[in-house]
Amino acid sequence: MRSVALSVLFALAATSISTSEDPKPVFKRSEIKAPFLEQFTDDWSERWTPSEATKKSPVGTETFSYVGKWEVEEPTTSVIEGDLGLVAKNKAAHHAISAPFPTSIDLKDKPFVVQYEVKYQKGGNCGGGYVKLLEDGFQTSGKDFDDHTSWVIMFGPDLTCPGTKLHFIFRYKNPLTGEYEEKHLKNPPKPTIEKLTNLYTLIVYPSNNTFEVLFNGVSEKSGSLLEDFEPAVNPPKEIDDPKDSKPSGWVDEKKIVDPKASKPADWDEDAPYEIVDAEAKKPEGWLDDEPTSIPDPDAEKPEEWDDEEDGDWIAPTVRNPKCDEAPGCGPWKAPLKPNPDYKGKWYPPTIDNPAYKGEWAPRKISNPDFFEDLHPAKSLDKIGGIGIELWTMTEDILFDNIYVGHSVEEAKTFATETFEVKKPLEAAAAKTEDKLDDDEEVPSWKEDPIAFIRHKTAIFIELAQTDPILALKSHPETGIVLAGALFTLFGMLGALFGLVGAQQKPITKSSKKTDAPSPDDKKKTNATPVAPAGGEKKEEGGVKKRK
Ligand SMILES: *[C@@H]1O[C@H](CO)[C@@H](O)[C@H](O)[C@H]1NC(C)=O
Repeated sequence: MRSVALSVLFALAATSISTSEDPKPVFKRSEIKAPFLEQFTDDWSERWTPSEATKKSPVGTETFSYVGKWEVEEPTTSVIEGDLGLVAKNKAAHHAISAPFPTSIDLKDKPFVVQYEVKYQKGGNCGGGYVKLLEDGFQTSGKDFDDHTSWVIMFGPDLTCPGTKLHFIFRYKNPLTGEYEEKHLKNPPKPTIEKLTNLYTLIVYPSNNTFEVLFNGVSEKSGSLLEDFEPAVNPPKEIDDPKDSKPSGWVDEKKIVDPKASKPADWDEDAPYEIVDAEAKKPEGWLDDEPTSIPDPDAEKPEEWDDEEDGDWIAPTVRNPKCDEAPGCGPWKAPLKPNPDYKGKWYPPTIDNPAYKGEWAPRKISNPDFFEDLHPAKSLDKIGGIGIELWTMTEDILFDNIYVGHSVEEAKTFATETFEVKKPLEAAAAKTEDKLDDDEEVPSWKEDPIAFIRHKTAIFIELAQTDPILALKSHPETGIVLAGALFTLFGMLGALFGLVGAQQKPITKSSKKTDAPSPDDKKKTNATPVAPAGGEKKEEGGVKKRK
């Protein structure tokens, strides 16, 4: 029995040792054929052009060039061998880069899907992580890509210090005036964004004007292009007549002072609030002639007192002890009481105004600017490519696995091949890092085999509590050995549970869910000064205008 148990422990230890140098999954280019699919493979620079523009809209008195560097490189915590991403490298810098699509895309009939990953590798600080789907025609001027380059849809996270939201904005051309107006999603989703990779998906269905925004594959918001954007696509049919004005005699005072009311004759405005209580009587034994305080009989003139220099010595006074024995001392005064005749100032009552005509509102006229577009997505301009144009306080924002196309299923499959492999590994790596931070030292197998096994088992159990699949994926050997021990060695159960029990405390102590913000993260986000992203005005909830 004992030897079997030991051999299991040894097996666990042996596999655990190799965990730290687990072979990472190796990056494999996706076979999905989409109108645009970007995994930042070797040939990325054939598609992407960093901007060399200077920002035309000065921020304050300065103008900025897009000097922020872009690199295609491994993430700082790499969990897939050879998986590179596009990284905005510099803090406090303007970054812009774009890639044309092989053929332009429209939103006429098929669903439109844009999906990509962003990883704020240095933590969620201030910085954009959104993409712009650029208007067809920009393709020849990638080097000039800037904040004035026309876009059709803007989508993705924006960390605005404080505050985070997922933008979904489309630029809609007014069919009457030909002017473009930004339509902003009302109440955009505000997910919690941490250091790990997150996946952003936007789906637009032009046929029925609906959209859906997903965060890590989970729907955060869905709605209607006609109802959930401001300003609304379609203007109101009727508007107030600007020529109408309130007639001079219009009475809109609802209440007036009753003109018939007058102050009652017996109303004395001057009656005092309190009067002397005439019925009060001086208490029996009151000492009218005793002072309330007397010179302290115990006080003595100090020896060093010099009458000539210091003047006459006067003893300090104390409360007259006789007053404490009697009901009171000194001249007696009757107390005050509330005056029953007190009325205060008289105010006339108000009554409904007989001349009241109601609130005045201007007459409605039909809106000369009225139009009705029942399928606004179909009216959007063609999209020629994708661009990232942002300003960031945090360096090393990584973009990867961009999908632009027409198939929700395809995008999902792409996410399964990429994001869903990557995220659990990242989460596990982050857990291990946390764990390493928590326990000053990982016990070594050679020095303390039992502590080492406990450590490994604890990590696994901790992971398994929040995410069993993730635990199995990231620590398969530990999981398998544990499961084997559980199912085949009944005699081991007790020992194993002893092990589990022993680890309960540290588990709850450090069970920081990877996806949940820690108070620390919050603090960091909130403490950072407000900074404009891309020089835009960052008004929460306000409608922004980009040209
Ligand atoms: C809109 O159309 C899409 C695709 O045709 C469909 O999947 C979706 O359920 C529709 N949404 C609504 C609200 O009808």
